[in-house]
Amino acid sequence: MTDEFDNQDELFDELEKKVKACTLCDLHKTRNRAVPGSGSREAWIMFVGEAPGKNEDSQGLPFVGAAGNFLTELLQSINLDRLDIYITNIVKCRPPNNRDPIPEEMDLCLPWLREQFMLIKPKVICTLGRFAANRLIDPELQISRDHGKFYKKKGQVFCALYHPAAALYNGNLKQVLRDDFLELGRFLEKCRGEMKNT
Ligand code: URA
Repeated sequence: MTDEFDNQDELFDELEKKVKACTLCDLHKTRNRAVPGSGSREAWIMFVGEAPGKNEDSQGLPFVGAAGNFLTELLQSINLDRLDIYITNIVKCRPPNNRDPIPEEMDLCLPWLREQFMLIKPKVICTLGRFAANRLIDPELQISRDHGKFYKKKGQVFCALYHPAAALYNGNLKQVLRDDFLELGRFLEKCRGEMKNT
């Protein structure tokens, strides 16, 4: 293990500690646990959802409920293991009764995500749902129109995907998400091939 990696790991531990103790917005008053994220700290692909729900709030881990199970299935369909990617959310604490996160909460929480991006340095960032897409890709993005599209920004590629929970409420979206993941899988294969040739 190199010194650089040791140092990165320490910085990441420090960051997780700060997220878990964060009191920047009022969500800390009602959360049980903040949810920094899970997976590989060296991942080249990250997935960013909206905010923890009830299960995530009690376990301190992202996407561990019904939406998480569907996400795992989608990842498996393109041979991605949750341990090889990094999964997190725009907002690290559960909004009461799973309401939508408000702009102030997202503004205050976003610097944690930016630090995660700086440490992990992912090449591909997949947004899950409109909140992450509008914050990270384009405020004008419409998920019903732009899902499955790829965007290049400052050397990183972003892919806008529907939130897996949306497919639990609207069964028609299940196939849409499955198709978008297959397209993502093809894109990642191409990237892997290009990286091997450099
Ligand atoms: N929905 C999200 O956006 N994130 C989670 O971690 C769980 C459900």
